[in-house]
Amino acid sequence: MAEKIFIGVAWPYVNGDLHLGHIAGCYLPSDIFARFHRLRGNEVLMVSGSDQHGTPIAVKAEQEGKSPAEIADFYHERFLKTWAQLGISFDLYTRTGTENHARVTHAIFLNLLQKGYIQRATMASPYCPACQRFLPDRFVRGTCPRCHSPDARGDQCDRCQSLLDPTDLMDWRCGLCGSKPMLRQTEHFFLQLHQFNERLKEWVLRQSEPAHWRAFVRNETLGTLQEGLRPRAITRDLTWGVSIPIEGFEDKRIYVWFEAVIGYLSAAIEWAQRSGDAERWQHWWCDPNTKSYYFIGKDNIPFHTLIWPAMLMGINDAPAPLYASPLNLPYDVPANQHLTIEQQKFSKRRNWAIYVPDFLSRYDPDPLRYFLSVNMPETADTDFSWSEFVRRNNTELVGTYGNAVNRTLSLVSQNFQGRVPPPSVWGELDHQILAKIDEARAAAENALAACRFREGLRAAMGLAQELNVYLDYKAPWQQAKTDREGCATTLYTALQVIANLRVLFAPFLPFSSQRLGDLLGLPPLQSGDWRHITLPVGQQLQKPEILFKKLDEDIVEKELARLGALTTQATTQKEEERVSEPIPAAPTIKYDDFVKLDLRTAKVLSVDKVAGADRLYTLIIDLGSERRQIVAGVAQQFPPEDLLGKTIVVVANLEPRKVRGVESNGMLLAAVADDVPVGIITVDRDVPPGAQVR
Ligand code: MF3
Ligand code: ZN
Repeated sequence: MAEKIFIGVAWPYVNGDLHLGHIAGCYLPSDIFARFHRLRGNEVLMVSGSDQHGTPIAVKAEQEGKSPAEIADFYHERFLKTWAQLGISFDLYTRTGTENHARVTHAIFLNLLQKGYIQRATMASPYCPACQRFLPDRFVRGTCPRCHSPDARGDQCDRCQSLLDPTDLMDWRCGLCGSKPMLRQTEHFFLQLHQFNERLKEWVLRQSEPAHWRAFVRNETLGTLQEGLRPRAITRDLTWGVSIPIEGFEDKRIYVWFEAVIGYLSAAIEWAQRSGDAERWQHWWCDPNTKSYYFIGKDNIPFHTLIWPAMLMGINDAPAPLYASPLNLPYDVPANQHLTIEQQKFSKRRNWAIYVPDFLSRYDPDPLRYFLSVNMPETADTDFSWSEFVRRNNTELVGTYGNAVNRTLSLVSQNFQGRVPPPSVWGELDHQILAKIDEARAAAENALAACRFREGLRAAMGLAQELNVYLDYKAPWQQAKTDREGCATTLYTALQVIANLRVLFAPFLPFSSQRLGDLLGLPPLQSGDWRHITLPVGQQLQKPEILFKKLDEDIVEKELARLGALTTQATTQKEEERVSEPIPAAPTIKYDDFVKLDLRTAKVLSVDKVAGADRLYTLIIDLGSERRQIVAGVAQQFPPEDLLGKTIVVVANLEPRKVRGVESNGMLLAAVADDVPVGIITVDRDVPPGAQVR
């Protein structure tokens, strides 16, 4: 029986073009998943939209001297074009600026307010006297209370991913002008997240029981619940956003995150209205057999595994459930990790980014989809490099898949007037390769259904490889001269494999699958076509054409030169990111203050990963007079061997604290760039552990 699959994909902010990190992070995996389920004959609803509210857009507008609405319109149009060019097949891609979205948001706000899940309170909020404005959370900068990153934002720490309130930060400063903000009283609404803590914990444990959640998603979520959720302000002193449906709050707006996640529901409602059956959204949202998947980048995990589920629980609760039947909670939140570019973190400011419109002005979409699928950051960060892109395109797409197709189609054209030839007697090898079709499809199916996209693609490419081996062995170009019947059998068999490869590759490479279908004289793929396809004998094929273009090696150098180059576009982006750069110098201190720091050399005795926190190591260090355990957030940049046995420098008198539940008694010193550790401070010759550093 057909399954119902709801796919929500993170709503991108409309403050700049989409880049490869976005695509690898969530848009490509969700699209592969949707295409796969449609081919299997399942009922898929895939929605997303432009996240057009919030500070990122207001700031961009201010800098460009435009209205936020103009900025939103501009990028929304560009995003729509990108989805079309890249083949991201949303059933609806809308935006948070619609009337429908505001209506649904208001209904949910009032419903949760009525049940006490939203409460009104006065809070002291950061206000910058120099800028004369309340500061949005992300514009308050300071030291993270959890991991002590010195440049955490007031909404979230980029280093340890903790959700923060601006007031959690230590030594805060205004991200706009660097001066010290003050607190000012202001009235707001708070989502009472703590009321859901226990229910969420039970739900997460139950959900991840048949182990379909990715381990890092589950661990991060449970870790946050372990620390305990707190009420969170869901309105802001801002005039760009969804209004608050309560008198007296005309100058404030609903917090962008509270309303953006509601988009998953409001978009389904909008889709139903457009389809002519306004109730149709319930088909996915209210049938408990539906599986709801949310594809997101890892920075968005808590909003999808905690806040949105809590809101849904609240909406469903008695005494006043908002809808006739309860809404489904997420079934899975297959978040991805980050994509680095040439081994470096994406940076808008340094123009260390590859933007999709630019990429697609020079290259085809399928090679990009292929590379990002084969290197998808499913469980760890992965890298895009131009030389790898060229290599994989040339050896795998062109050399393996393209080659098998091209050899076969050319021989059929040359020897059989482009018609599927009749097979005669099948031998062992022919049977074997035909059997591999169903094996490969089963393997791809298992992997794709479990959101293991790399593995799914490997199954398809594995079959293409087998086909090449088969062709090399049977050598139909030789058979054509000596054994015409044998040649017909080989080419018939190869064509069957190709017709099925087209299906297995279709979720990943929709454009070339379409082309290949045309070449084979097949109708476009449709619902239910994920099955064994047989090309009938005598079917007329089209004149062969190559599926993939070989890329010239020298594009690597050209593309590398573009990367990081400060184009005009990058200069304006630099302006925009001034919120974080340059990091203002700290105020002058007295020598007496400096000597309060007990800096010591220490020898690293052991290095271990902290379970569930992929940035963290537990180090055991020798401080001369004692051994200690410290936690250091350098695991993603430095393999253990870079630290083991080294003499490092630590702050020895830092008050002990727990980082992700692990006790840390001191802090390792490292140089950082853009919040990322880039160098460990060590000593330049042999020094005994415990020596003072001044
Ligand atoms: N706009 C957010 C971002 O780019 C993602 C929002 S996802 C949603 O990080 F669920 F809230 F829509
Ligand atoms: Zn932190």
